[in-house]
Amino acid sequence: MDSFEWNKIFGGVLAGLLAVLGVSIISDLMFARHLPEKPGYVVAGVEEGPAEAGPAADAEKPAAFYLASADVAKGEAQFKKCAACHNAAAGGANGTGPNLHGIVGASIAAKAGFGYSDALKGKAGEKWDWDNLWAWLKSPKAFAAGNKMSFAGISKPEDRAAVIAWLNTQSASPLPLPAAPAEEAPAAEEAAPAEAEAAAAEAAPAE
Ligand code: HEC
Repeated sequence: MDSFEWNKIFGGVLAGLLAVLGVSIISDLMFARHLPEKPGYVVAGVEEGPAEAGPAADAEKPAAFYLASADVAKGEAQFKKCAACHNAAAGGANGTGPNLHGIVGASIAAKAGFGYSDALKGKAGEKWDWDNLWAWLKSPKAFAAGNKMSFAGISKPEDRAAVIAWLNTQSASPLPLPAAPAEEAPAAEEAAPAEAEAAAAEAAPAE
């Protein structure tokens, strides 16, 4: 074989490799893999764990923001999650968990006749103010590691606020809900999407 012959063979091999590479690049472009944002399966009844990681958790606003507009009726429905272990009736008995009547504003771990864990007793000097209840119901474990409330927490801030607001009504002296905290630039934040929508509506050809 002369060198011309070899050149043809090499050329052929090279062209073949390039073709394979090209096809793989193009197919990558055509069939870009999109991982779903959420897993495709959700197990009912399993709360998401304390979302310490992830930007979504950090994006949560302070408790007062959600409490100021909490839906008390929704909170009553939410309390079904708690009712296996708690009731909030005046003079109601302790169950697996202590009676929760008047719990908003009350001292922590102070219901007579209930055997609290050392973890919760360690907080006994504090009160169930909005922020403590907020933290507890977001993640009991994070609030008092080693406590014995077998409940993962309520991951949605709206649901958490609702149940706290409802608990507040289960009291001889409900507290006024906290006022929504002033936001730095609420006008700009809210106006922007509305303006964009208006602009889009204007731009759309009338049919
Ligand atoms: C599986 C049973 C169970 C469920 C469900 C449960 N809890 Fe509890 N809860 C407990 C136990 C047990 C304690 C006592 C914890 C300790 O001593 O460590 C407790 C303690 C508490 C306390 C502190 C009471 C005090 O006197 O200091 C509050 C407030 C509370 N739970 C609210 C709730 C709410 C609201 C829900 C529903 C969103 C809920 N719990 C769901 C079992 C439960």
